[in-house]
Amino acid sequence: MSPTDLPPSSKTLVIIPTYDELENLPLIVGRLHRAQPGADVLVVDDNSPDGTGEKADEMAAADERIHVLHRTEKNGLGGAYIAGFRWALARDYTVIVEMDADGSHAPEQLDRLLRAIDDGADLVLGSRYVPGGNTVNWPLKRQLISRGGNVYSQLALGVRIRDITGGYRAFRREVLAALSLETVASAGYCFQIDLAWRALQLGFRVEEVPITFVERVIGESKMSGSIVKEAALNVPRWGFEGRRRKLRHYLDSRKH
Ligand code: GDD
Ligand code: MN
Repeated sequence: MSPTDLPPSSKTLVIIPTYDELENLPLIVGRLHRAQPGADVLVVDDNSPDGTGEKADEMAAADERIHVLHRTEKNGLGGAYIAGFRWALARDYTVIVEMDADGSHAPEQLDRLLRAIDDGADLVLGSRYVPGGNTVNWPLKRQLISRGGNVYSQLALGVRIRDITGGYRAFRREVLAALSLETVASAGYCFQIDLAWRALQLGFRVEEVPITFVERVIGESKMSGSIVKEAALNVPRWGFEGRRRKLRHYLDSRKH
C-alpha cells in the first residue's frame, strides 16, 4: 500500500482546548489513546490558573503523540481553536478534530466521526439531535438554550443542520484551509455555528453523526450570558448576508 492509499483519518490531530481542566485532561487523553492509539493530541491552554498547562507539558514530555500550545490569556474557545487549526495546517495532518476536555465528547465515539470522513464527508458534526444522539445529565436550562439556539440558527440561516452548535467535530484539512481563518471573529461558542455555516457556503459536504453528550462530572462550564448574546446577534446577520448573496447570484444569472 502506498501512503496515498491510506484513509484521511490515518493522520488525525485531536485539538483539546483547556481552561481549568487539571483533573479532566489526563482522563480524556487516556481515554482517547485507548480508543484511537494513532491519534495525535494538541492541548490549547489559555494559561489556566489551576496548572492545566504545566500538566499538559508533563504529559507531552512523556508521550510524543501529545503537543501543547500555550496562550497567555483566556480569550475564548474560538480563538483557542483557530490557534490550534493554524498549528495543524502548518503540519501534515489530514483530519483535525475538536473535542472538549471535560468528558462530554466520548473518545469512544470518535470512530463514528472518522468513518464518515473516510467515507467522503468534508466536515462531520457530532450531533445530539439526529436519531441515535442524545444528552445525559444536562441541566434543563442548558438543554433549552441548546435546542433554542439550534432552531434559531436553522431559521436564521436557512439550513437543515440539527446540531450546528455542537463542539465535537472532524474537519478534513482542506475545509480549514479554505475557511479564511483570519476573518473568523467569533470568540465564544457561536464560533461553532460560524464554521459550519462557512463550510456549507463553500459547498463542502457537511454530515451529522449521532453522539451521546454527557455533562461534565468534574469542574465547571465556561458558558456565559455574553456567549449566548454573541450568537444571538451574529447569526441573523450571517443569514441575511447569505440570502443577499443568493439573490444577487439569481439576479445576475437572469441578466445573461
Ligand atoms: N483554551 C480555552 N480558552 N479553552 C476553553 C475556553 C477558553 O476561553 N473556554 C472553554 N474552553 C474549553 C473548556 O476547558 C473545555 O475543554 C471546552 O472548551 C468546552 O468548554 P465547556 O465550558 O465545558 O463548554 P460547555 O460544556 O458549556 O459547552 C459545550 O457544548 C456547546 C454546545 O451546546 C461545548 O462543546 C461547546 O463548544 C458547544 O458549543
Ligand atoms: Mn462542557
